[in-house]
Amino acid sequence: MPKIIIAIDGYSSCGKSTTAKAVAARMKYGYIDTGAMYRAVSLYFIQNHVSFSNSKEIAAALNDIHITFNFNPKTGRNETCLNGLNVEEEIRKMYISNYVSEVSTLVEVRRAMVAQQQKMGRRRGVVMDGRDIGTKVFPDAEVKVFMSADTGIRAARRQRELLEKGEMVPVEDIKANLEKRDLIDSTRAESPLSQAADAVPLDTTHMTIEEQVEWVVELADRRIAELYREGYFEGKR
Ligand code: DC
Repeated sequence: MPKIIIAIDGYSSCGKSTTAKAVAARMKYGYIDTGAMYRAVSLYFIQNHVSFSNSKEIAAALNDIHITFNFNPKTGRNETCLNGLNVEEEIRKMYISNYVSEVSTLVEVRRAMVAQQQKMGRRRGVVMDGRDIGTKVFPDAEVKVFMSADTGIRAARRQRELLEKGEMVPVEDIKANLEKRDLIDSTRAESPLSQAADAVPLDTTHMTIEEQVEWVVELADRRIAELYREGYFEGKR
């Protein structure tokens, strides 16, 4: 059966990754967490003291950075590896969240990540979540969702996630970080966070993850049926 690309963009901590992962499992598609890629680059930059203002250093670092998603049978999840090392836990910590938006404004970083993401999705059959998937990485994605939610709710959800991992962060700090990241993400010069004209908005403030997953799967099913009727898949495998 021919496969499509499902692009899920939106603000931080709206449940994009959790939803995208579950949608991918339901549809037997691959899942690519593009935020994890920017987080892995941030970790490398911190560890190797890469200067934001030195383009030679940035280029050399990007040459040396290899990001893969490897299946961990213990957790049953694809986990982010940086140069062969599993960094899944490390990149979710607050110090990375405080650093990543700046790193993701760098043109060289964005170009390198977008090129890798386009390669990863070239056979379609993927759910990709991020900020610029429907606008920049796959403007031709067949399904585009744009997620938002109330900031207080997002901060509370994020605090719970961090607590489950043993990191206690005051909710005000998380809220400030989310607001700062939203602002940087939506005002940066290179592929800012914005809703694609053909994206369907989804406000998750009052939704459970299960409801979000159902909503996206139904949207994708309807779109696939429509594409069949239009003959879009003819000649495609
Ligand atoms: O989805 P996340 O919170 O893990 O993403 C981390 C950061 O990476 C986020 O603050 C913005 C950036 N990002 C981006 O600029 N473009 C993407 N496609 C994905 C994430």
